[in-house]
Amino acid sequence: MGEFEGKVVLITGASSGIGAETALEFASSGASLVLVGRDEERLEKYAQDCLAKGLTKEKVLTIKADMCVEDDVKRIMESTITHFGRLDVLVNNAGACVLSSLSSENLMETYDHMIKLNVRSVLQITNLAAPHLIESKGCVVNVSSICGKRVVPGMLAYNISKAAIDQFTRCTALDLAAKGVRVNAVNPGAIMTPLQTVFGMSAEDNHERARKVHPMGRAGEVNEVAPAIKFLASNAASFITGETLSIDGGRHVSCAR
Ligand SMILES: NC(=O)c1ccc[n+]([C@@H]2O[C@H](COP(=O)([O-])OP(=O)(O)OC[C@H]3O[C@@H](n4cnc5c(N)ncnc54)[C@H](OP(=O)(O)O)[C@@H]3O)[C@@H](O)[C@H]2O)c1
Repeated sequence: MGEFEGKVVLITGASSGIGAETALEFASSGASLVLVGRDEERLEKYAQDCLAKGLTKEKVLTIKADMCVEDDVKRIMESTITHFGRLDVLVNNAGACVLSSLSSENLMETYDHMIKLNVRSVLQITNLAAPHLIESKGCVVNVSSICGKRVVPGMLAYNISKAAIDQFTRCTALDLAAKGVRVNAVNPGAIMTPLQTVFGMSAEDNHERARKVHPMGRAGEVNEVAPAIKFLASNAASFITGETLSIDGGRHVSCAR
């Protein structure tokens, strides 16, 4: 029996990148999964991949939803409880990055979008999930970024949104600690997913950039993030809460020269 057998894990942004790999990681441990995304086709593809890991159909629920729409977020939680009757782990992963700086023409629109998607939706779904997590003595893992801890140039609004997620992680960890619910975050460096196309560079140039900015001399892979998310959600992390765990090849301890 897998470690997460009998547990229900909800992953937002499970239709791509880090979220999709996290779904596979939990599927291997026997968890029941709620996979959320906007792109139904990709969501179904990754649901099939989870079934191939040995999960039965009833153990995988896919929900097409836009995290920026309040009613969609309410529907995610209602469907989860209707289908599974419980929630043990919430992985707040859905997010996007739009480049911005003080000289950006549409800075305020970009800021509003980054805050709405990367912060507000996380607060809303965590608020709705909290009573169920308290009941199951469950946990939350937020997917933050190196940008929560350090300033990556040209990402003003995104940097602010991820710094907010780090503080949100600490605030909610304190809020829920006495109720038996842990809240942690992972802070990845550059991980080669579709999100990286935001720089408008070729894959090769992107890797070259990653080689320069990470002390370990390379970008990270989704399979170097998903196991850390699972670890933070597992009993092995039973006394860890309020932590923001860097997964960035040492980038957060370096400084520009
Ligand atoms: N890749 C990196 O270098 C990196 C580094 C640090 C942190 N992160 C963080 O890691 C998380 C996942 O990013 P990723 O790299 O895996 O990117 P990705 O491959 O582009 O995946 C993003 C996921 O978020 C979902 N999403 C985006 N907007 C949404 C919305 N409005 N409603 C519902 N779902 C939405 C997407 O779903 P659909 O495609 O179905 O819309 C997709 O499943 C993000 O929070 C990101 O900030 C990434």
